[in-house]
Amino acid sequence: MDKALLSKTAAAMVAPGKGILAADESAGTCEKRFQSVNVDCTEENRRTYRGLLFTTPGVNQQISGVILHDETLRQSGNDGAAFPAYLAKNGMVPGIKVDKGVVNIPLLPSAEKVTEGLDGLDKRMAEYFKLGARFAKWRAVITIGEGIPSHTCIYANAHALARYAASCQAASIVPMIEPEVLLDGDHTIERCEEVTEATLRATFAALAAYNVSTEHTILKASMVVSGNKCSRQAGVAEVAERTLRVLKRTVPASLPGVVFLSGGQTDLDATAHLDAMNRIGAPWPLTFSYSRALQNTALKTWSGKAANYAAAQKAFAHRARMNGLAAQGKWKSELEKQ
Ligand code: 13P
Repeated sequence: MDKALLSKTAAAMVAPGKGILAADESAGTCEKRFQSVNVDCTEENRRTYRGLLFTTPGVNQQISGVILHDETLRQSGNDGAAFPAYLAKNGMVPGIKVDKGVVNIPLLPSAEKVTEGLDGLDKRMAEYFKLGARFAKWRAVITIGEGIPSHTCIYANAHALARYAASCQAASIVPMIEPEVLLDGDHTIERCEEVTEATLRATFAALAAYNVSTEHTILKASMVVSGNKCSRQAGVAEVAERTLRVLKRTVPASLPGVVFLSGGQTDLDATAHLDAMNRIGAPWPLTFSYSRALQNTALKTWSGKAANYAAAQKAFAHRARMNGLAAQGKWKSELEKQ
């Protein structure tokens, strides 16, 4: 465990005005996204599209790191350089998604999931480090519904997150722990706040039980928002206030940074919420680690056509710039019109 390297990696990930591009969509998720723009989800198309994002001119001014899928970590760009080497050379830390997705928890309601991927993880970590990965993501999923989440579901996911985080640090890879509370459902923002608090409490208790160093851990959090089918949709100020309140109650001040997922929020909401939180301020750097909220427009603009390559890069660069400003509390909605 190289603590100096872990500290250096974590600090680079949350450097002022910068955040993370999540480009680690699984084959199934990629299939859905590509289908929405009528592009075949082939290995070559995934390589081309992700290369488009990584090579966007100037994007390293706002993108500090990229979460890659196992497939992408082993691919090369059009210039022949392996993606991790290209990213590192251009000042973007290569990361890797290491979980293997979710499964049902026997005897619990089917909406309750636990994330798999611990078997053989130490061996995979050693290989990922050799391939250039310096941080690793694990996503746990908590669903809000009638009588759920159960304590068992929160507990099972917290323990898996802690075991994976310990494996990461032993391999000198920064864990980016992602306990995502889904926004799907008709629940209120009050309920989301309650569940997010319980989830984060259990997660940090498990990290302590496994001797995970909070100084070398990045939290990838979901924001406290109204369920997407709830009749009362909380505004930007309320989301910022409630999210910060929960984080301050549960997250150690020793953490080097907190990054957020977009979770199905609109591009503008994800930016506005991050901006509002940074205007209030927190004990940690707060930045983005978005997939959809950074990529939606770029993917649509590209639509699999070489002629749209530059326009898609421009769309991605714009969202990266807007979120880079939001990470400093300097975003303004007028800037979106340019
Ligand atoms: P979204 O920003 O689209 O929620 O994706 C972030 C992510 O990495 C989910 O695991």
